[in-house]
Amino acid sequence: MPGQLFDNALNQPGMPFPLLKVLVHSRAMNFLRGKRILLGVSGGIAAYKSAELVRQLRVAGAFVRVVMTPAASEFITARTFQALSGERVWCDWSDDRTAMEHIELARWAETILVAPATADTLARLAQGRADDLLAAVCLASNAPLAVAPAMNQAMWRHAATQHNVLVMQQRGVSVLGPASGAQACGETGPGRMLEPVELVEHLSASFANGLLAGLKVVVSAGPTREPLDPVRFFSNRSSGKMGYAVARAAREAGALVDLVSGPVVLESPAGVDCVRVETAAEMHREVMARMADCDLYIGAAAVADYRPLSPAGDKIKKQEQTRSVELEPVPDILAAVAALEQRPLCVGFAAETGRLEEYAQKKRIQKGVEMIAANRVGKGLGFETDDNELLLVWDGGSCLLERDHKPILARRLIEQIAALYARLAKSKSGSKPVEHHAKHSA
Ligand code: CTP
Repeated sequence: MPGQLFDNALNQPGMPFPLLKVLVHSRAMNFLRGKRILLGVSGGIAAYKSAELVRQLRVAGAFVRVVMTPAASEFITARTFQALSGERVWCDWSDDRTAMEHIELARWAETILVAPATADTLARLAQGRADDLLAAVCLASNAPLAVAPAMNQAMWRHAATQHNVLVMQQRGVSVLGPASGAQACGETGPGRMLEPVELVEHLSASFANGLLAGLKVVVSAGPTREPLDPVRFFSNRSSGKMGYAVARAAREAGALVDLVSGPVVLESPAGVDCVRVETAAEMHREVMARMADCDLYIGAAAVADYRPLSPAGDKIKKQEQTRSVELEPVPDILAAVAALEQRPLCVGFAAETGRLEEYAQKKRIQKGVEMIAANRVGKGLGFETDDNELLLVWDGGSCLLERDHKPILARRLIEQIAALYARLAKSKSGSKPVEHHAKHSA
């Protein structure tokens, strides 16, 4: 909805993301805290993973109630879920049908996740049956429903299952997974339930607050590698963690996110389109290819400033005592994006060891961008660490995001960027609402 972003951002001057000093799965926490999640467990071997799922949801601050199908209790006991959720567990209809427990549970749930969802459970949910408590709760609830299929690969591929999945998707059910790989039955293929951490991320994202809803965001992350010969390259210590956390936070805030990533060992965040590159030239090409409909560019990559002028075609042999390498500058991607006539709002990063604000403002003006997130490097901050501290500078203002875990900082950064986007959009249009895809010209 045009204008929604701006209203959201402006109406929430405080922190929409509570600052949670927790180590485990902190990236999912603010959106799940206090949420009421009904977990349906059906009878498959993956049910053992549901215990870990309950634990992670609880750590994330959610309230969890578990409803098991009768078949599920052949794989895992209710007592396990009871201990982990701290709640009573529902195994099937109680003797007293007048208790209307399916209605109560249906009303209680803010979201329902069935994990694992067996082929039989999918079939019954697709048909809208109410022949066990879990199916009845799903039928009686207005809450969003998500299913995490888990079954033998042939059962998953079967036309009947695929039809059931399609029917459910058309009805608005989120189908999470399945993943592909080795199966408990000894076969290999699609049908593995997603890991609990991935399911937690999906649920978290479904509760995102929508600060960047509907915007297209491109994030660059990680280092680049500039080849010297076929086996050697110049690079830097960037782990990509901050850029990946920013991409995830933008996704959680409702944006469509493309991540252009240098070589790192991180998994692409759920729901983010990730393209992997090696050199600054490749990163430049991939970023520029995504600028046509981009609303916000966040350059978190540690792009090499120089590359060898003439990389050798063959491996360079050890010959002389000393060797000089002639370097040439690589394209400045951030500055190139900022110089486009129709361009997104641009946010860059800067790594500094001192005089943070002065250097950051200088860099912002030099590169012609709206915001620089300056990063103090050293003392356990910055590269290859899990923590960071950011000084944000923009035209006429600055704000310090104090030291914290990168996923938490990334969310606070996204909050500040959304507020700046809103301010600039408003000032360019007077007090009128602005189209979401209006570009900021320099
Ligand atoms: N950047 C870029 N393309 C480059 C170099 C940098 O897009 N070729 C972007 C980075 O993604 C980051 C910002 O510019 O957002 C960092 O700018 P840079 O001048 O490289 O910062 P520092 O390395 O901190 O600069 P300096 O070495 O001059 O301190």
